[in-house]
Amino acid sequence: MDQISCRSALAQYGNPPNPCYDQSMRLAPADPDLFGERTRGLLEGCPNPKPSPADKASFGRLASLYTAFSTEFASFALKECLSRGHTRIADPFAGMGTLGEAARVYPVDLVLNDLNPFAVASCCVRTATIAELERATQTVRSLVPESRGADDESRFRSAVNALLPRGQTVVDCLLDPSTEEAQFGLCCLHILSIARISMHKRLRGSNPTWTKRAGGGAVIDGDFESAVEAAICSLCDYAAQLPSRAEGMSVRLSNRDVADLDWAEGGVDAIVTSPPYPNRTDYIRHYLPAAELLLAGDRDIERRLREIQIGTPLIRGDHAGVELPRSVEMLIERVRTHRSYASERYYAKGFRYYFEDMSRALARFAGWLAPKGIALLVVQDTFYKEILVPVADLLGDIAQIHGLDLVGVERFKVRNSMSRLSPHTRAALPKPQLAETVILLSKV
Ligand SMILES: C[S@@+](CC[C@H](N)C(=O)[O-])C[C@H]1O[C@@H](n2cnc3c(N)ncnc32)[C@H](O)[C@@H]1O
Repeated sequence: MDQISCRSALAQYGNPPNPCYDQSMRLAPADPDLFGERTRGLLEGCPNPKPSPADKASFGRLASLYTAFSTEFASFALKECLSRGHTRIADPFAGMGTLGEAARVYPVDLVLNDLNPFAVASCCVRTATIAELERATQTVRSLVPESRGADDESRFRSAVNALLPRGQTVVDCLLDPSTEEAQFGLCCLHILSIARISMHKRLRGSNPTWTKRAGGGAVIDGDFESAVEAAICSLCDYAAQLPSRAEGMSVRLSNRDVADLDWAEGGVDAIVTSPPYPNRTDYIRHYLPAAELLLAGDRDIERRLREIQIGTPLIRGDHAGVELPRSVEMLIERVRTHRSYASERYYAKGFRYYFEDMSRALARFAGWLAPKGIALLVVQDTFYKEILVPVADLLGDIAQIHGLDLVGVERFKVRNSMSRLSPHTRAALPKPQLAETVILLSKV
């Protein structure tokens, strides 16, 4: 076997040793030496990052938490940060904004970013004051009668136009979601987005990340008015159980590719995030009815965002000159030479994009973090056919290249994953032992 690091010895590209799970579904590696003694204890008490039934009954009623982590995990991570005196906290892949909701009760300066406009609108709702949310529901409700008589699509469009500040487009608004006006507009747009998603529910494919495009109006469940009213009611229920925002809690939002963020070097004490996994999840397609609304149906922008997504299922150019560790190169080579259809032409390319993109992202993390800064990441293993892709270990190897040391690891068993969609994987591994892993990186 090639020489690879002790940590990535787990990345042996076959079945992992049979792991054992305790009652909280925490996974203990069969060989405890794999992670070494020094990684123990630093994540003591870390809860399972999988969204809980309470999460699903709360924000989960407004939007799918398919790739979210739990608010319990987010609270744990924030307390860890505060116990180290870290108050400037960032989530560059903020998704549905779980970290934002958990941070409401803490005196932290939070920065939340996501490439997907619907995700930014969700982050806005989860961090808004209760008064802002009330104003948003009243404003959207007041817009409904204005468009009576028009078809549903035109009603969505006229409501969006009525909300945009000073003649801006949605994209302008999303490029600068930090002004109060833009944030209020985003809360309103979120209500319209979830109404539109609810009307397109029948278009969800069997692949949970894929929503079909509505053709010629053949959409829908319900109508504009009842969908908007239902969305308003769900938001009111959600807001009713939210804690008020703590004195001293501040939040900034942005809607950028992680590679383009202009955050100051050394300006962040801690990063708490769950980056995409290399399982070709298409977040724009997953929330397509919302993305179409927020991007005003602009297919060029939509395509560009889908290509830039880390873990994209689309074929595009790779990044020249990104150094990857040997463990990652070995994995890509195993995928490339796999006998199955399109391994070289498509799948190996996807893994290369993913690890190159994540290498560029981790280099940015290292730059943003102040000395002694930490990054807490939730990542999930996956399979390519019968080949295990131990994502946490591989990202740990990449992080080291950029001066981030892996100092804590906690592994949790995954019951369902995208890998289970592949009949090949199911046949080869009737019960694959995948892990969702929380890793703690520390700036060297
Ligand atoms: C695993 S999800 C994050 C879930 C989040 N922790 C939550 O609780 O909802 C990963 C997110 O990364 C975002 N993303 C993918 N590629 C990105 C990129 N290049 N720049 C910024 N965000 C990106 C996706 O839109 C998605 O929302």
